Amino acid sequence: MSTFQAPKGTFDLIPPRSAVFLAVREAMAETVRRAGYGYVETPAFEDTALFKRGVGESSDIVTKEMYTFTTRGGVSLTLRPEGTASVVRAALQHNLHKGALPVKLYYSGSYYRYEQPQAGRYRHFSQVGAEALGTEDPAVDAELIILAADAFKQLGLTKVRLLLNTLGDQECRPRYRAALQEFLRGLDLDEATRARIEINPLRVLDDKRPEVQAQLTDAPVIGDYLCDACKAFHEEVQTLLSIYGVPFEDDVKLVRGLDYYTRTTFEFVHDGLGSQSAVGGGGRYDGLSQDLGGPSLPSVGWALGVDRTVLAMEAEGVAHSAAGAGFGQSVDVFGVPLGAAAKAMLFGLVVELRRAGVRADLVFGDKGLKGAMKAADRSGAKYALVAGDRDLAADVVQLKDLTTGEQTPVAVDQIVPTLKEKLS
Ligand code: HAM
Repeated sequence: MSTFQAPKGTFDLIPPRSAVFLAVREAMAETVRRAGYGYVETPAFEDTALFKRGVGESSDIVTKEMYTFTTRGGVSLTLRPEGTASVVRAALQHNLHKGALPVKLYYSGSYYRYEQPQAGRYRHFSQVGAEALGTEDPAVDAELIILAADAFKQLGLTKVRLLLNTLGDQECRPRYRAALQEFLRGLDLDEATRARIEINPLRVLDDKRPEVQAQLTDAPVIGDYLCDACKAFHEEVQTLLSIYGVPFEDDVKLVRGLDYYTRTTFEFVHDGLGSQSAVGGGGRYDGLSQDLGGPSLPSVGWALGVDRTVLAMEAEGVAHSAAGAGFGQSVDVFGVPLGAAAKAMLFGLVVELRRAGVRADLVFGDKGLKGAMKAADRSGAKYALVAGDRDLAADVVQLKDLTTGEQTPVAVDQIVPTLKEKLS
């Protein structure tokens, strides 16, 4: 071991587990590409003010969790704690909102939050996200939720639950906020929580402490304060989810940790994960574009946590099947040369096989026949190509089926077509 280790709250992805991460990212991305979402990639850091205004001054993320630094040029930048503010910034910067709406975008990358590390909660983590910008149609909310549910299902997860809520809009939320504040001010709460009542009372509903939760049983619920438009919107989302077989649980206390949400909010949770149970979350953010100085651009989106999804798959025992889907380091063919001349020939054959689309590798270094056969076994290959001086003289290679042990000589120029056929 060297003197250095990965920083606290981070971890390295190494084979074979790294293959599961790749498979998960790809399954999530493919699910949204199939629905017309295009890939967007933004910088890992942005102006600090973007997140302050976007995610919200009163959120935990902005007050406690940002990696903020000043550049040599005196500019304050922050490592992105989430993707939505950046995507809206990029869409506005490139005038995407002036074309056909909705603008459908997806992303996949690393995010950074200075949180207290624990199982499933890291300082560097990975999300795949999708955003539909510029439409107020509840069918888009439903589309996104259905896509996320389908992605989890496709990965083999059966224990993901969907929690659904609405937070109202600028018409009805202020009335609810005032009623909630009045209720909360009458409770027995500590100083910090009392301060929160004045800044962001909805966050108090999310307090995990039992002594706080016990006092919240009679708290006013948003459903009683929704305006007709928000009520109809929410019912439409619920109807579409029901029709398309996505079960959900109404959770009136689901608040989410980011301040930009309006109307639809949701979270996907997995019961095998302990306290960090959210494998994904999102919602509608109809005011974010304006908060960032842009035009009105009602939008909705989500981000799925890749790390927690992998943990959930491991908890359900379905991670290995995803890893087998072509993302691992295993090959189909492995070269075992006996001598320098055979090595040179097999090296060339392996290059040719790879160019023909076959996953192939060969032994490197001086391992001897026994070591080479062991390496072939370990590679996961179905076939070994064994060659010595006698084979070279006859212009053949021994094609060994590693499952049956059967070995047949094949002409060197027939190796690529023969293997392509056997592996198809
Ligand atoms: P979020 O709920 O903060 O939402 O994060 C989404 C998901 O990222 C979480 O459900 C979780 O799986 C994962 N995640 C978050 N923080 C951590 C962490 N410290 N360690 C490991 N995994 C983590 C957002 O980020 C919003 N931008 C989602 C969104 C998109 N809303 C609208 N559009």
